[in-house]
Amino acid sequence: MSGDLNVDEDLLDSYEGTIPGHLAIIMDGNGRWARRRDLPRIRGHRAGAQAVRSVVEACRYLGVDTLTLYAFSSQNWQRPPEEVAGLMTLFEIYLQRERERLLENDIRLEVIGNRDRLAGVLRDSISEIEEASANNDQMVLQIAVSYGGREEIVRAAQGIAREAADGTLDPDDIDESVFEDHLYTAGRPDPELVIRTSGEMRISNFLLWQIAYSELYITDTLWPDFDESALLDAFHDYEGRERRFGKTGAQVETVENTGSDG
Ligand code: IPE
Ligand code: IPE
Ligand code: MG
Repeated sequence: MSGDLNVDEDLLDSYEGTIPGHLAIIMDGNGRWARRRDLPRIRGHRAGAQAVRSVVEACRYLGVDTLTLYAFSSQNWQRPPEEVAGLMTLFEIYLQRERERLLENDIRLEVIGNRDRLAGVLRDSISEIEEASANNDQMVLQIAVSYGGREEIVRAAQGIAREAADGTLDPDDIDESVFEDHLYTAGRPDPELVIRTSGEMRISNFLLWQIAYSELYITDTLWPDFDESALLDAFHDYEGRERRFGKTGAQVETVENTGSDG
């Protein structure tokens, strides 16, 4: 265990339940957090960036293998230009500030989404940290920026169509696994658990393909207030779920009790 994680070890050690291998979070509610305090929206985003640090470190401490954070959607480009610019600046600051901590804690950073729309400096910072952390193997931190699930699926279809047109891929060989290989998340497992903060009951174009069978946990807590104990609440809730994947409850219990499909 790395000694450099800034977490409440007593609190996190008290949790003895299941930890999802891949946790994905829709970090929503920064604007409402700011509005309740009569602050500009950007102050909410700044507070949200603090919450990112603490949740990343808690997940690393608890042994989550992959953490995916939805930071900025393809649709968020439509927000007022000053908010978009503020968010991009915050993202750049986050990368610079967290770079050393990510490396020290053996965390691999990967950014998913359409990078062509990002500023050149930001793209360069992302590539630099991705390369520097490429061999880290304690946790993968996937940050979704300029990301949309539909856009990702269309892009995968384009890649597949190109290979079919080139003659390097036989259309009859296209299956789920080939399709997955063309997504941004190629090689990563699907999330077991998706958390959305601040109460909205929707997916907002997040990981549409990958969450087919993910458990959903929606909390009214606003993202800047989401802390280690809120994370444990979500894990507790997840712990009590029965994941059936289309089977009956009885079938799932047989597998759990005997380790076979019976
Ligand atoms: C989430 O907070 C951050 C981004 C989408 C970039 P919001 O900015 O959406 O906060 P609300 O939903 O307005 O409260
Ligand atoms: C979803 O939040 C996107 C992110 C958290 C990055 P939004 O605030 O953009 O979602 P909607 O507009 O309420 O669906
Ligand atoms: Mg929102």
